[in-house]
Amino acid sequence: MCGIAGYIGKQQAAPIILDGLSRLEYRGYDSAGVAVYDGERIHMEKAQGRLRVLEELTQHGATMPGFCGIGHTRWATHGSPSDTNAHPHMNESNSIAVVHNGIIENYAQLKQRLLNKGYHFASETDTEVLVHMLTEYYNGDPVEAIEKVMHRVEGSYALGIMFLDHPHHIYAARKDSPLIVGESSDGKFIASDVPAILQYTRTVYYMENEEIACLSTEHTRFFNVDGEPIQKTPVTIDWDIHAAEKGGFEHFMLKEIHEQPKAIKDTISPRIKDGDIDLSEIGMSDEELLSFHKITIVACGSAYHSGVTGRYVLEDLARIPTEADLASEFRYRNPIYDAGTLVIVVSQSGETADSLAALRDAKAHGCKVLAIVNVVGSSIAREADAVLYTWAGPEIAVATTKAYSCQIAAFYLLALKFARLRSTITPERFQTLLDALSCLPGQVESLLAQKEKIQFFANHYLATEHIFFIGRGIDYALCLEASLKLKEISYIHSEAYAAGELKHGTISLMENGTLVIAVATQDALYPKTVSNIVEVKTRGAFVMAVTTLQHPEMEKCADYVLYVPKTAAPFMDSLAIVPLQLFAYYVSLGRGLDVDKPRNLAKSVTVE
Ligand code: M6R
Repeated sequence: MCGIAGYIGKQQAAPIILDGLSRLEYRGYDSAGVAVYDGERIHMEKAQGRLRVLEELTQHGATMPGFCGIGHTRWATHGSPSDTNAHPHMNESNSIAVVHNGIIENYAQLKQRLLNKGYHFASETDTEVLVHMLTEYYNGDPVEAIEKVMHRVEGSYALGIMFLDHPHHIYAARKDSPLIVGESSDGKFIASDVPAILQYTRTVYYMENEEIACLSTEHTRFFNVDGEPIQKTPVTIDWDIHAAEKGGFEHFMLKEIHEQPKAIKDTISPRIKDGDIDLSEIGMSDEELLSFHKITIVACGSAYHSGVTGRYVLEDLARIPTEADLASEFRYRNPIYDAGTLVIVVSQSGETADSLAALRDAKAHGCKVLAIVNVVGSSIAREADAVLYTWAGPEIAVATTKAYSCQIAAFYLLALKFARLRSTITPERFQTLLDALSCLPGQVESLLAQKEKIQFFANHYLATEHIFFIGRGIDYALCLEASLKLKEISYIHSEAYAAGELKHGTISLMENGTLVIAVATQDALYPKTVSNIVEVKTRGAFVMAVTTLQHPEMEKCADYVLYVPKTAAPFMDSLAIVPLQLFAYYVSLGRGLDVDKPRNLAKSVTVE
């Protein structure tokens, strides 16, 4: 989604803003722009395409003098990607400039009203209504004008605003789209996310919904939507700056795949204490956890896939009825809530619009919400009743790897906790599973050594057009994620199927040479999946199987086999996903694609 960066201080603003925008590139965008007060006017430059086009145009900001400015990377919603639709947007007198992340839902009515009043629109964006409304309401007091606009617009927004009348100030406002304010001795910042300002400051204010900020070199002031001053306390970000850099890897995705052993360990280890699972930090007592008789998991994309794994593992170990649903479906299907249902919302970013809306809906119906979230201080983390953080660290590649792995690890912790509380497994089995959990990081590490073998195989499938992933049980949950990983970064059409479902239709697509990736890590289901492999091979498919070292006989059945070590059956997804993440990575690399920033995608989907 769009990225916002702004700066006011002692340094030249444009290079700092461009640097901030470059660190938000992972969010996905199709055009970029910067506006800076140059001592006389608001000087604006915009360009469709990658940020480097704007950097070249402005000589990395050098051609834009001035100490106060705002910038934006746009992910098109209303109006195609173009120079004109790129942000910032300015009013006709060039006295107000606005950058916006989000969607103004009632923009059509607002636009018609403004057109009737004689305002002219230069772009096709929803954002431009904000510019003209600010112009209409501005009477010398920027906060008052912003307030009036906020009372009239519906939808989501993070805004950075400059007024020519107040050239040494940046104004910001937010509702349902992330925005932070940073402070250093050198200046003040606004940004969509922490990496944009991490090299300048670690002192950050998280803006809450319907808050306004006014930044000058001397002050950082905050107001509520009625223009009343409010006090906010900054937090100190403790991220390692190198966490948001590539650290010698060719891509963030490859780096993040390699960070999985540490990320899983950081997520699991602090919660295993004295032979038990200790979740006392999450904000829900054992009594409360015991009171739930049903779990509903809600999320989007890979986070949803982690929820599908979570459903299998929770039902298997804790015998608690669990459903997993896509947030975009859940929120509109009039779900049945009751007080005994725990709603678990899973999100890496903690800002996904549909997941956040589902959370609010669940809370409004009196349900308790537990969030499994990676970004501390994000909207979902702040609004949930309890939070189980995944300690994956900053994830920059659009295709999630380490955050997904931490999400499924978080579900293992929860399943074991519920199983213990509900006495659904014996103490001996609990101990065996706990030991298995502790061994996962080392086993994931060992899998990374298979890289060359996977790259070799991937290189043979660069030109393929369709790939099918099949598996049963948690292997099927894993196939959903492996298939998404492949398609999002390689642009190859792929589908994930429950292996037993193929013969109900999809098998008609099998022909000579069709690549089928079959996952068979569950001993209890192994013979069934082997039968499904035989079925597709009979119809000409080429099968790559992923199975455990205990099944060398798979080589008689599949054409190519990748082996993974064995762990307790419910935890196999943590191991089997690694070679398939690497497969997706190497296919994308071999096809010469932008691995970390695939087309059309955004890291943080803050619009519906
Ligand atoms: O930040 P979230 O975990 O809520 O994001 C959910 C999805 O948008 C995300 O998992 C998406 O599917 C990824 N690109 C998958 O790699």
